[in-house]
Order: sequence, then structure tokens, then C-alpha cells
Amino acid sequence: MREIITLKWEKGNLLLLDQTLLPNTVTYATCKTLEDVYQAIQTMIVRGAPAIGVSAGYGMVLAANAFDGTDTAAFMDFYREQGEYLKSSRPTAVNLMWAVDRMVERAEALASEGQPLEAVRKGLEAEAVAIHEEDKQTNRNIGTNLLSLLKDGDTVLTHCNAGSLATSEYGTALSVFYMAQEKGMNIKAFADETRPRLQGANLTAFELVEHGVDVTLICDNMAAVVLSQGKINALIVGCDRVAANGDTANKIGTFSVSVLANQFHVPVYIAAPTTTIDMECPTGKEIPIEERSREEVLRINGEYIAPKEVKTYNLAFDVTPAEYITAIVTEKGIVYPPFRDNLEILMKK
Ligand code: MRU
Repeated sequence: MREIITLKWEKGNLLLLDQTLLPNTVTYATCKTLEDVYQAIQTMIVRGAPAIGVSAGYGMVLAANAFDGTDTAAFMDFYREQGEYLKSSRPTAVNLMWAVDRMVERAEALASEGQPLEAVRKGLEAEAVAIHEEDKQTNRNIGTNLLSLLKDGDTVLTHCNAGSLATSEYGTALSVFYMAQEKGMNIKAFADETRPRLQGANLTAFELVEHGVDVTLICDNMAAVVLSQGKINALIVGCDRVAANGDTANKIGTFSVSVLANQFHVPVYIAAPTTTIDMECPTGKEIPIEERSREEVLRINGEYIAPKEVKTYNLAFDVTPAEYITAIVTEKGIVYPPFRDNLEILMKK
């Protein structure tokens, strides 16, 4: 079995498994500057909310190392500005904003203690490593909590990729399969292919096959049929931002498949690290939704599959309203409706 490591911090550089080339080529892109990390996030060499957050933490280390000067106040101005720039690489996954803010707050704390810049830089590197390590434990805890909602032999439908490739280790939604393997349970997967960028086919099918999980790949338009045939015991997906009322932004198509699951009385579980819950965002209406290039719709593997001049509409995410969600499963526990009250209680834990 090949070990899948999505990101590595090595000798002061960030190495990212290039997800635009999977499943056919396994190679790492090297980020030496904050600009490299910005480009990697925007072009989706790295993607998935937690992996974007961890990459942003290391990106902020690279920014700190690039500062040329000794004045702490000038450093902080530079650092905040670099952070705002990095945040603009993709708008929807709140982990990006969360990680940058955490790094800036750490820099402010170290600077206000009167630490010299070299010590501030060291402290920032330790903070980025801590974000990375915390994400690994979060993945495992979410997997354990998800597994408590299933029984041996169950089959789970998932959409997009919320696995190892989207995080630091086991993933969020897909951690349920890896935790099941650890505990000797058999949980099978159905994966939607997830147009336009095919994360379900290129990434989820890839990593589950690599890990020996029983996975069946389906075209997106098969979801209603497999749900109606009683083949699915639960829909489990990741998220890019959960609003305070439980409305959840995730990969485009999650809304459709959640509505379908409700129709066939299949529970809908959102695997959500608390770093993806945005209590400042009252409802799904306030979640910024990324619109990406029309080329993603027009082409597959570089080849046009539609007339070049046809109009397109390419939102990268949609919002599943809270009423379609059975539970939000975090590393701190499982949250049931009413989400507004229960998320507030959870986030204070
Ligand atoms: O556009 P992507 O590939 O970054 O979208 C990823 C998703 O929608 C994932 O489901 C989400 O980020 C959760 S990853 C644990």
C-alpha cells in the first residue's frame, strides 16, 4: 500500500502532492515562497479545506522568512499584508482565513513580548507545525465519531474528496473508512465522480483504492438510483464552511445529493473540523461562493467536450440548507439540530 502524504514541511520548504496530476502521476510541487503557496492553492495543486489551512500556515512561515529587515513594527505590517493576500487565493474554505489569522495573532503575541525577529520566525514555524499536527488528531477523532453512527457492513456515499488528500492524514469524511479498517470493521464506499474537476474519480477513488477500501465509482447522475435501490446507509461529505445556523458549503453537487438522500430517508452527515465552522457567518447566504474558470466545464483532460462558445456557469461550491442535514460530526462531538444552539455550545467547549 502506497502511503499518501498530501503535504510535507522539509528543510524550510513546503512540498505539496500535486493533485492536478492524480491519479496518473504522483509528484510533489515545491513551495519556497508565499507566492508559490498562493498559486498552489489557486490552481488546486493543494485543495480541500483543512489541507488549504495547513498549507496557509506554512505559507505564512515562508512569508516571515522572506522579510528583509530588523524592525518589528515594519515586519508586522508586512506580515498582515501578506496574510490578506494569501486569504484572497480562494474564498470559500474558511480554514484558509482561520490559519492565516492564527499565524498573524501568534506573530503579534511574540512581537509584543519584545522577541527578536529570529525568535518570532522560530515561533511561527512551531505554530504552523502545531496546526499540521492538530489536524491529524482532528481527522482521527472525526472518524471515530462518524463510525459510532454506522454498523459493520454499511455502505457510505460520498461526494468530492474529503480524505487524506484534503487534509494532513486520514481526512474528515473518508476517515470513517480508515478508522473502520483500524477497528476491523468493514465499511464500503460509493464515490460520486464530482464534475467538473472530478475529485471523486481522480482523488477519492484513488486514495480509497490505494488503502484497500471497497469503493464503487459512480457518475454524478447515478446518485438517485443507488439511493433508491437501498444500497446506501449514509451520505457522508466534508465541508468548506459551516454557518452558525448549520447551513453548509461544500463541493458543488453536495446540495443535490443531500436532497436526494432526504428523499430516500438516508441520513446526511457533515464531517466538519471545528476549524471549518464559522460562527461569524450567520447563515449560508453570507458564505462567499467561488466561481471558477469556464474552462473547467468546457474541457476534460484538456480536450473540449462542448462548443467553445457555449455559455457556462461554474460555481465551485453550493450550500446545503441545514434542514437537509441530519448531524454535523466534529472532532469534539456530534451536533444535532437545532444547529444554531448546539453549534454555539460545541464551539464554547
Ligand atoms: O474545490 P475543492 O477540491 O477544494 O473542494 C473540496 C471540498 O469540497 C471538500 O469536500 C471540503 O474541502 C472538505 S475537505 C476535508
